[in-house]
Amino acid sequence: MEENKFIAASTLIIHRMISRSINVAVTRAEEFSQQGFEDEGLEEGYTKYLTCLMKNLEHHHLVEDEIMFPFFQDRLPNTRFDHLVEDHHKITALIEAVNSKLADGEGETTMKGHMDEILPLMTNISDLWFDHIEYEEDIFINIADDFVSQDESLALLGNIDDFRNDLFEPFSLTLPFILFNLEPDDRKIMAMELPPEFTEELIPHVWKEEWESMSPFFVDDVNG
Ligand SMILES: [Fe+2]
Ligand SMILES: [Fe+2]
Repeated sequence: MEENKFIAASTLIIHRMISRSINVAVTRAEEFSQQGFEDEGLEEGYTKYLTCLMKNLEHHHLVEDEIMFPFFQDRLPNTRFDHLVEDHHKITALIEAVNSKLADGEGETTMKGHMDEILPLMTNISDLWFDHIEYEEDIFINIADDFVSQDESLALLGNIDDFRNDLFEPFSLTLPFILFNLEPDDRKIMAMELPPEFTEELIPHVWKEEWESMSPFFVDDVNG
């Protein structure tokens, strides 16, 4: 049983990545709403960071709503997936509110005037998210692998890999965001999912100028 934990492993790594970035987004929102942004680079970085976080949240929820939950509903008929979907909808409304603030700038960095609104929205997202994943992991993720064969879980994960990747555009921001919000061990696992040109060429070199402003929000050893 232990060797087939693909569903849990791949979901928990995404939960850890999103959890860390929500914590960073809230902590820094408290700071920026009180003290403002030290410079434009930090404001740009925070805007990009929040944008990537919203994209990852949206994608993760869609993966669950459209692939995972429907598949497992048959295997776990007594599991209340509808409660989990309801949570997703509540979070989606908040994501849309955050996105509307991000879109206001039309690419310009105008977060300064929005931080008083961003802070409560991010705090609400955080409260909902951490309760949600605790419940979701408890009733579903931690047991999911016991209800599928290895072949089925690999097929399921293959479907997820190909699902709505358009939501991650631009990759020049979202891929570094994903990797550098993970601790080194998780990052290594995630990096193995990517073609080498991404980890060896595009992310560290070609795209660096685009994502570099987010680096103050990444894990400490981002350049390690
Ligand atoms: Fe969920
Ligand atoms: Fe989840």
